[in-house]
Amino acid sequence: MEDKGSLLIRGGTVVTATARLRADVLVRSGRIDAVGPDLGIDEADVDRVIDAAGCWVMPGGIDTHTHLAHPIGRLGVTTADDFYTGTVAGAFGGVTTIIDFGLQEQGGTLTDARDHRFGVIDPDAIIDFGFHLIVTDVNEGVLAEMGDLIRSGFPSFKVYMTYGDKKIGDDDLILLLEVAGEHGGLIYAHCENDCAVTHLIERHLAEGKTGPAYHATSRPPAVEAEATNRAIMLAELAGAPICIAHVTSSGAARHVADARARGVAVAAETCPQYLVLDSSVYDPGAGCEVAKFVCSPPMREHSHVDALWDALADGSIQQVSSDHAPFRYEGQKTGGCDNFTQIPNGLPGIETRLPIVFTEGVASGRLTPERFVELTATAPARLFGLTEKGRIEPGADADLIVVDPEREVEITADVLHSDVDYSPYEGMRLKGFPTWTISRGDVIIDNGVLTAERGRGRQVERIPIDPANLP
Ligand code: URP
Ligand code: ZN
Ligand code: ZN
Repeated sequence: MEDKGSLLIRGGTVVTATARLRADVLVRSGRIDAVGPDLGIDEADVDRVIDAAGCWVMPGGIDTHTHLAHPIGRLGVTTADDFYTGTVAGAFGGVTTIIDFGLQEQGGTLTDARDHRFGVIDPDAIIDFGFHLIVTDVNEGVLAEMGDLIRSGFPSFKVYMTYGDKKIGDDDLILLLEVAGEHGGLIYAHCENDCAVTHLIERHLAEGKTGPAYHATSRPPAVEAEATNRAIMLAELAGAPICIAHVTSSGAARHVADARARGVAVAAETCPQYLVLDSSVYDPGAGCEVAKFVCSPPMREHSHVDALWDALADGSIQQVSSDHAPFRYEGQKTGGCDNFTQIPNGLPGIETRLPIVFTEGVASGRLTPERFVELTATAPARLFGLTEKGRIEPGADADLIVVDPEREVEITADVLHSDVDYSPYEGMRLKGFPTWTISRGDVIIDNGVLTAERGRGRQVERIPIDPANLP
């Protein structure tokens, strides 16, 4: 692996969230030193030169929604990637920073959740990391902890409006929003109406609709749209910013757009699965194979897919993250072949996120290259308080990817690096995989070869969130 010397990336097209230009990038001591059309650097004066002719040089991807080594207590399973395999997969897919999650135990503190999670991530991650704290048990102690956590680099808190013992109710949500708003925190919400989901699941099971395909009909778009609107309204009442996780439906996207238009500090993300898959994956005739596509919220009818692309292009959705929650088909997903409620929810996707948005967004003409960079790196950095990342500017961390825009890869589980036995995107041909991935100046994927050591990733600096500065 490269040491922290100097690196010149010569002759590529540098793409940022606002511009595209033929330029060299000089990296020194892990940071970007200079960017310009001809830096006049003698190759003998730098430790390494990467010839980027014909390639695009972009900020490394920032994925603010991953679930690595994430325990699902109810089902007694843990996501299949740990922080080594998951971040290796990320690096191969052009990701240089993740923000994962630390789960508050019932009766436990957020500070304990933070300390425990850091101990799990730090020895394994090969790229830089942060984590949101998932609040599951709201009490006076938790509310009192939040200010110090926000000021010490943990400004975002995940809440689930559904999901068994992780769910928090509206009474607790408004308290969290108020305290977050007061101290520069951001609530990041999984929005589905818990009463409706619980009712629909019970009804499906009572009617004998137990196979994997019924997962989707137990969580229809209205369930998501209602909870999204409620979360936004509560944020508006509390005067606090909010980020809506994994928007999948036109109704939810419309609530976000309407709220932004009336000046509410709301941001939203969607994920690649909702941009390239639709509800046709839930074909009852496919039997247990459908379990491979069980995630919450589920994929939607095709009109919603089009609405999400429109929302990305017009700015009403501001980021694309993966919601990487990988489970093996054999032995994990198959645990629910006869009862969809026993299928662990989630899809693998950290490695294919950038290539999917690149191929279906940029190469197909739906998004500009600049918008691609904004959605996958610059906006996530701004939204979650990462000051050193997501930009190609002197002084920023040298987190970069070099992508040959014409190189295409046919997706199979074997060409990917997650510890799972399938890919939801099997057979798709994707562009946008990096030839080189550079993290703080270290070349960690070098012409397709992993060169990073386990544990080299560092916790990222994060600052409190200014609602006026949301992307
Ligand atoms: O199905 C999903 N998305 N599983 C991961 C947990 C979550 O909802 O974010
Ligand atoms: Zn979620
Ligand atoms: Zn998630």
